Parts: sequence; C-alpha cells; structure tokens
Amino acid sequence: MNLQLVSNHKIENSQTDNFHSDIVEGLKSTPKKLHSKYFYDKAGDRLFQQIMAMPEYYLTNCELDIFKNKTQEITDAITFDDSPFDLIELGAGDAMKSSFLLKNLTDNQIDFTYMPIDISGNILSVLNEKLNNEIPELEIVSLEGEYFDMLDKATSISNRRKVVLFLGGNIGNMDMEESYHFCNELRRKLNRGDILLVGFDLKKNPHTILNAYNDAAGITSSFNLNLLVRMNRELEADFDVLNYQHYQTYDPVSGACKSYLISLAEQNVHIGNEVFHFEENEVIDMEISQKFSKKNIRNMANNSGFHILNEISDSKNWFVDSIWQVV
Ligand code: AVJ
Repeated sequence: MNLQLVSNHKIENSQTDNFHSDIVEGLKSTPKKLHSKYFYDKAGDRLFQQIMAMPEYYLTNCELDIFKNKTQEITDAITFDDSPFDLIELGAGDAMKSSFLLKNLTDNQIDFTYMPIDISGNILSVLNEKLNNEIPELEIVSLEGEYFDMLDKATSISNRRKVVLFLGGNIGNMDMEESYHFCNELRRKLNRGDILLVGFDLKKNPHTILNAYNDAAGITSSFNLNLLVRMNRELEADFDVLNYQHYQTYDPVSGACKSYLISLAEQNVHIGNEVFHFEENEVIDMEISQKFSKKNIRNMANNSGFHILNEISDSKNWFVDSIWQVV
C-alpha cells in the first residue's frame, strides 16, 4: 500500500497497480469478470450521479427519505453515548444522504469528526467543496482508497469510538457470502460498543428492481461500458466499445440483480502485450446488486458479531438503514 498525505486533510493510496492486475486476473477467469469498484473514474462518477437522478432508480430517494425525515432517530441511535466519535463513511461519494445527518449533528453541537472514505479521489474533492460550503464548521478528514486500508488508517489517526456508515446499498455489490465475510472483518476492526449503520435495498416487486438497473435511457448501459473506455485510456487496452452490449438480470429467489457485458462478435482485445479472446456472445460478469429480506439482514448482523439497535425504513418500506452495535 502506498499512502500519501496529499494535504492536511486528505490521505490517498495509489490505485493504479491494483487496477491493472485485478483487470488482467478477471479477464483470465471463467467466466470473464471485471470488478464494479473500478466503474468510478471521473466519467463513471458523473454517470452514477445521473443514475441516482433517474426516475427508475428508487434507491437514492428511499434512503434520502430516511436521512431527511428520520434524522433525529439516527442521531439518537449513534449518540446514545455522549462521548466524541469519528463518523466514518465507507464509499461516501458526494455525501448526498449523509449531509442531512452531518447537519443535524453539527446543529446539535455534537463533538465528532467526519471521515469519508472513497476509492474515487475525484468524488472526494466534489464532497469536500460541497460540505465546506454547506457546513463550514464541520471537521473533515477524507481518505482516498480501499475500505479496509483506509479504515486502518482512520483507527491509526484517532482512538475515539467509531460510527461507521455504509449507505446506498453499497453492501449489495457483494454476494451474500462475501457480505458475511465483509461484516465479520469490519467487526474485527472495530471495538465493543462501536456502531455500524448499513443501508440495505429490500426485495420487492421484481419489475421495480429490474427497471432500476435496466433503464430506458441506457445510462446503466453506459455506466458499464465506461469501464471499457477507462481501460482503453488507463491501461492502453483496445476494446471496441460498440462491440459490447449491456445485459441485466434479476433473480427474485436469490435477490441477485446482475449486470453483464456481452461480446457481440468473436474478437481479440489487447492490454499491454497480453491478448484476450472473446467468443461471439461470451459474457463478462460486471456487477452484482444484491437485494435482501429483513430476515437476511438479521442473520447477517447476528452471525457477524453485531446486535441490531434499530431498523429505520423509508415510507414505502423498500429500503432499510439497519443500525448495529459491536457485541
Ligand atoms: C452504488 C452499488 C449502490 O448497485 O445500486 C447503480 C451501483 N449500478 N446502477 C447499486 C449501480 C448500477 C449501485 N451502488
């Protein structure tokens, strides 16, 4: 890991090395696989912001409903103990939802430091500028890099109690088994009494879910294809982007909503001096957005060493922010 103190309040680690090796490894596996965490370059950040504004993409509005209208309930749950704390947000993005909580906490003169973690340095700059304007008195330490590396960094900077936010259904980018491991690992990095607030997108009418990821305007398609564009630019790959097609599925039994890119022709792609062969109609596994039942969530909490303090849902009951405490 290559840590750099960029300015007083910004810490980053270089992503470039992992990007190349992860991509090559993914393209050598069967089926071919590209990790969705690499979607978020500057163009990808912009496309994801467009996705959040689409009528079909209900997730953001649901969680916004919770953070706007149930802010005090969240504040009460995380400040049950009057001691100062670090509020760490995994995958903070532009902090659209959490900014309502940050405002409420500062209005209540609660002593805390906000530590947003994101893999995109670009979006962290957007976030810093936005929050400096909206809440000038807020203390921010932004951490650019992978979740666990940056969480270690956060614990090395300060030994105050931790409240970790993991919003937006980001946990859905792992399958069930990976999320169990993730929650376990997270719990091991935290101390007894620390808090984790996780946003889960709930199972619901399958059409509603599929439409959110198979939008009529094709923004989700561009979001997936943009990773090929990024690889062409940053890894000197030669993907012919027009020769790939986005394909989305939702399985209402498992709750897995998955995106693929389909190769429309038999073709070769070069990355450096390596060649990757695609059959016509061969798939690249791109992203999972896992959906959960309330029972899935309770099992997840209990089996990874947390107990549930509170579960806060939006008015439609489509999304839940589940507040857990390390046992
Ligand atoms: C940022 C992971 C929550 O899976 O819903 C949106 C990303 N992908 N549309 C999600 C995404 C396609 C999003 N998360």
